[in-house]
Amino acid sequence: MSEKRSLPAGGRPDGVSGALSRRCFVSGAAGAATLMVHSSLAATEETRELRLGVIGCGGRGSGAINDSLTINEGVRLVATADLFAPKCAALWKAMREAHPDKVAATDSIAAGLDGWRRVLDDPSVDIVLITTPPGFRPSYLTEAVAAGKHVFAEKPACVDPAGYRICLEAHDKALANGTAIVAGTQYRRQVNYLGAIEQIRQGAIGDLVSASARYCAGGIWYRPRKEGMSDAEYQLTNWMHFIWLSGDQIVEQAVHNLDTMNWVMGGNPISAFGSGGRFTRPDDSEMWDSMSLDYEYPGNRVVSFMCRQIPGAAADVGNVIRGTQGECQIGGGNAGSRIFDRAGKKIWEMAGSIADAYRQEHKDLVDSIRAGKPIVELRQMADSSMMAVLGRMAAYSGQKVTWKFATEESSLNLFPKDLAWDSTLPRPQFAIPGRTKLV
Ligand SMILES: NC(=O)c1ccc[n+]([C@@H]2O[C@H](COP(=O)([O-])OP(=O)(O)OC[C@H]3O[C@@H](n4cnc5c(N)ncnc54)[C@H](O)[C@@H]3O)[C@@H](O)[C@H]2O)c1
Repeated sequence: MSEKRSLPAGGRPDGVSGALSRRCFVSGAAGAATLMVHSSLAATEETRELRLGVIGCGGRGSGAINDSLTINEGVRLVATADLFAPKCAALWKAMREAHPDKVAATDSIAAGLDGWRRVLDDPSVDIVLITTPPGFRPSYLTEAVAAGKHVFAEKPACVDPAGYRICLEAHDKALANGTAIVAGTQYRRQVNYLGAIEQIRQGAIGDLVSASARYCAGGIWYRPRKEGMSDAEYQLTNWMHFIWLSGDQIVEQAVHNLDTMNWVMGGNPISAFGSGGRFTRPDDSEMWDSMSLDYEYPGNRVVSFMCRQIPGAAADVGNVIRGTQGECQIGGGNAGSRIFDRAGKKIWEMAGSIADAYRQEHKDLVDSIRAGKPIVELRQMADSSMMAVLGRMAAYSGQKVTWKFATEESSLNLFPKDLAWDSTLPRPQFAIPGRTKLV
């Protein structure tokens, strides 16, 4: 099975075309050169200004760069890429207003499907923030590591097993290069999550028995097709609704809960079994409205998981971990953590700020580079993303799917071949259990 993905040719909205690029790895002499560059940099990292590039200048790209410029000193925004130049321009304007001393004198904007390449080729960029839709993450991570850049990568890491395996390679390559990859799973840095996990590890709820996690929310945006749009332009713009780009809600959004579950359970699940369906999505959306899954973990422990995006239905985002001596509740966002004993008496609680957690990611990244001990935590986020993919595979196919099958045997690779701005893409299709094949 081929895991290779051809990265998009140019052909950007303003008509400038770019060369077809393929993922490549630093090897042999080139690899040695990269290592030398990084070891010689290490001596000066403590004081040197670190320069930031952003690939994907939408909501989260703007949020992440703002977090980094807010929390860190000695950093500067120097480059941006997005499909659309106005997205980059809006980010520059906002950052120039918010952090006038931390942005380059002139806006550096790389628009189009090949804009990412120009940010990675820019020798002035030290750290790249990869905040595109998730479908591009594995390839861009690979290329960023090969270019010797430090990386902040938003969640999720991948949307299919092929992407998962690419991420594992990128993780190992970053370790070998001595370059950082910090993951956008911010709850790993939120104090009430850290506090709750510490309490569980110290035995506050006894032996772990089971857990449940929910990401139940209202509806989500839909960006209708405009006249004259190619299939590729339309799907890239309306990316949430196409599985090769978003992975569906379970991967794109609920990966936060699944990451927490893997953290609590101390490893990956053995299998997933579940169901779901769609009732409210627009006709050409491939997304399901809801999914419910049981994840089986070693030691006969089960995580029950549910996600949905249905307008008007009740919202509930959080995690409950049950043990022989009590129960720990860890809420989404700023909802805090609590522990109750078997009689229902609250015995511990802690508040936490998600905004602080978002900023902490960027502080840890920069501090680790300056200390010469770059954090590489892609595998952890890749595992959680793959757990979400595993659940989606089980629900879509209607079969019980094992971690082993999904990670080692599945040939599922959703990224389109030879993606270009004017590509015709296969007709959108949503999954039907019993008919959708497990591959
Ligand atoms: N950690 C969190 O809590 C959190 C919160 C929100 C979003 N996210 C993640 O951030 C990512 C982006 O989400 P968003 O809400 O910012 O979406 P968005 O639609 O607001 O922004 C995505 C941007 O990427 C651009 N883009 C698309 N394909 C590109 C490509 N190939 N190269 C360069 N630019 C490209 C789009 O034009 C758009 O400007 C997603 O993975 C999402 O899951 C994480």
